[in-house]
Amino acid sequence: MQITDIVHDYLGAHLKPGDHALDATAGNGYDSTVMATLVGPEGHVIAIDIQVSAIDATRTRLAAAGCLAQVELLVADHAQALNSLCSNYAQTMSAITFNLGYLPGSDKSIQTEPKSTLGGLRAASELLKPGGLLLVTAYRGHDGGQTEANQVADWMQTVQERGWTVESHEPIVTGKRVPPILWVARKI
Ligand SMILES: C[S@@+](CC[C@H](N)C(=O)[O-])C[C@H]1O[C@@H](n2cnc3c(N)ncnc32)[C@H](O)[C@@H]1O
Repeated sequence: MQITDIVHDYLGAHLKPGDHALDATAGNGYDSTVMATLVGPEGHVIAIDIQVSAIDATRTRLAAAGCLAQVELLVADHAQALNSLCSNYAQTMSAITFNLGYLPGSDKSIQTEPKSTLGGLRAASELLKPGGLLLVTAYRGHDGGQTEANQVADWMQTVQERGWTVESHEPIVTGKRVPPILWVARKI
């Protein structure tokens, strides 16, 4: 099973019509579309990406799936955007996803970086409502990927010490490829 399928299964089991959710790395819009479909027209999704091309691709995918109306699209750095959103959306989000790394088929130099990832995660912990789900996928095979994953692991340890439940998943991969890792954290 692909790690993205595991993420979508968690979202499917958790999100309900009318919920609020946030995709901190919209990319090609796969996760945003799953979220928007699950929350329905009475719900609300905020999808963020630092690249205009990613937000354009997300808009196209959402429109094709008939769920663009319930999504707010933002071209922004997720640390800055999530911090700004805290004033209006604190403790309102049912689920937040981070799918770290670079956009497949795009400029690999534009990738998530530990500083903004950790800033985004801290703000995400404010935006989630109690019981809300934080799903973070990290890829460890590219330059900087393992360092970023280590810092996310440390952050997950700190929220676990605050009482959150945290699980991790690492799919089995063939050959020498380093598997991605998914953290599933539930806020208390
Ligand atoms: C692995 S892709 C995400 C794939 C996406 N979840 C999907 O369903 O298609 C990672 C994305 O993070 C974006 N990104 C990198 N740094 C960012 C930042 N500081 N703030 C927001 N997005 C960022 C990249 O532009 C890229 O589109």
